Amino acid sequence: MTNESCTYVIFGATGNLARIKLMPGFYHLDMENKLPECSRIVAVGRRPWDRAVWLAEVRTLLEEKFGGALDESVFQRFSERLFYHRGDLDDEQCYSSLATTLSDAQFSRNIAFYLAIGPDDFGHVIESLSKVELLAQEYGWRRVVIEKPFGYDLESAQALQKRLERHLTEEQIYRIDHYLGKGMVQNVLVFRFANVMLEPLWNRNYIDHIQITHAENLGISSRGEYYDSAGAMRDMLQSHLLQLMTLVAMEPPVAMDAEALRDEKVKVLKSIRPIPKSAVHAHAFRGQYGKGSINGQKVPGYLEEANIPTDSTTETYAAMKLMIDNWRWRGVPFYLRTGKRMAMGQSCISICFRHPPLQFFRGTHVSCMNPNWVILGIQPEECIRIEMTVKQAGLEMRTHTTSLDASFRQPDQRFVDAYENLLLDVIHGDRSLFLRFDEVESAWRIVDPILQTWASERDYIPTYPAGSWGPAESRRLFEKEDQFWRSSLLPECGPVG
Ligand code: BG6
Repeated sequence: MTNESCTYVIFGATGNLARIKLMPGFYHLDMENKLPECSRIVAVGRRPWDRAVWLAEVRTLLEEKFGGALDESVFQRFSERLFYHRGDLDDEQCYSSLATTLSDAQFSRNIAFYLAIGPDDFGHVIESLSKVELLAQEYGWRRVVIEKPFGYDLESAQALQKRLERHLTEEQIYRIDHYLGKGMVQNVLVFRFANVMLEPLWNRNYIDHIQITHAENLGISSRGEYYDSAGAMRDMLQSHLLQLMTLVAMEPPVAMDAEALRDEKVKVLKSIRPIPKSAVHAHAFRGQYGKGSINGQKVPGYLEEANIPTDSTTETYAAMKLMIDNWRWRGVPFYLRTGKRMAMGQSCISICFRHPPLQFFRGTHVSCMNPNWVILGIQPEECIRIEMTVKQAGLEMRTHTTSLDASFRQPDQRFVDAYENLLLDVIHGDRSLFLRFDEVESAWRIVDPILQTWASERDYIPTYPAGSWGPAESRRLFEKEDQFWRSSLLPECGPVG
């Protein structure tokens, strides 16, 4: 790991991602003295601003994000790193003047370009940077961070990759999936591979099924245009949730380095049983939120949101059942679901173990024998819980479910945003938590038949009330009567909502 200085150039610097995640992320890194000395951050934007206006903007966005006045000495140091480059992505002049600016001695020759822009612009921006020789690694490294979605389906992802390959090597490309930067997501690997006790149980012999849920109570806010063309399957399942699944299911890598780790993840994706179009309805379910209420407040349905066509059948909820055909997992269903405007905002992985082979306590007061669950709370609560059945104190044989709790973060510990980790990894040249192209390809292969089938069925989509746990009919994905969507991090006896 090196600590050489670097220049971060952010395309789309005045957009949402940069405001909400990137600039606050850089600020925190600076506060913790993690940014190498002499590192600079150049914002590229179309607005007719100069450096002073940009600094004022950054101050405001940081104050909004952190809810109050900033530490002046930290902000002073941070602001010395900030620059603004005005330019239009479609204008060649933007790139030639950027090259001139970056040739100034105050900017490190190690440059990371962060493309926080719409996916339609990725190819063009890379070609333009290449034309002015900003991607040539003659005097320092050049890296490009590409936001998701990488393509719209398998074919478009391959076409984009071909375009990028002409100007960049795979080592220069950092395809970001910010879920991999989350502390608890990395903890999944530590939990699995730093503790010997679970490994013998982590397979088809002991595990009944696995669920991965990402629920949001927010709607699509001002992202209507993007979201309506993407939908929940592309926006969350194809990327973040499949990534979580690979970490839960993968074999121990031969080393904790980028290639070994990604080799194992790709093996999982390649072992997922393909879903033929004829079986899509048995494996996938979609829905769209109607109006409802969240925390007692009435909220509009998806079709009433800004920039959404009134006849849209884009899904805001998607669930799927996947089977992994390998020795470890054959026969264990993985249920993945995500939705906007659900009952609460929560991401978790829930692992349900099998029942004991004999109902040993039949004929006693022991009525509800819950299976063991391992719950990995990703957010907002970051926790690991192992649920077990234990006897209640007293003369009678009664039981209850209790859980062993290994909290990830104490309430007084600072929350580290996923982007902070990843921004730093780019500087250090560590690609472990970024996607290799074969991962992206395999992920599209899995979801493409579902997307194609849904695209051909544009006349109807089931709805669910905003504030609920999604369409009840998605239950039909379950293989067995006693399986149900697990919606709480606390012990649960049966289905809710
Ligand atoms: C993004 C999706 O990639 O992830 C959003 O485009 C989604 O629609 C977001 O809300 C969820 O990320 P997080 O970190 O807030 O769980």
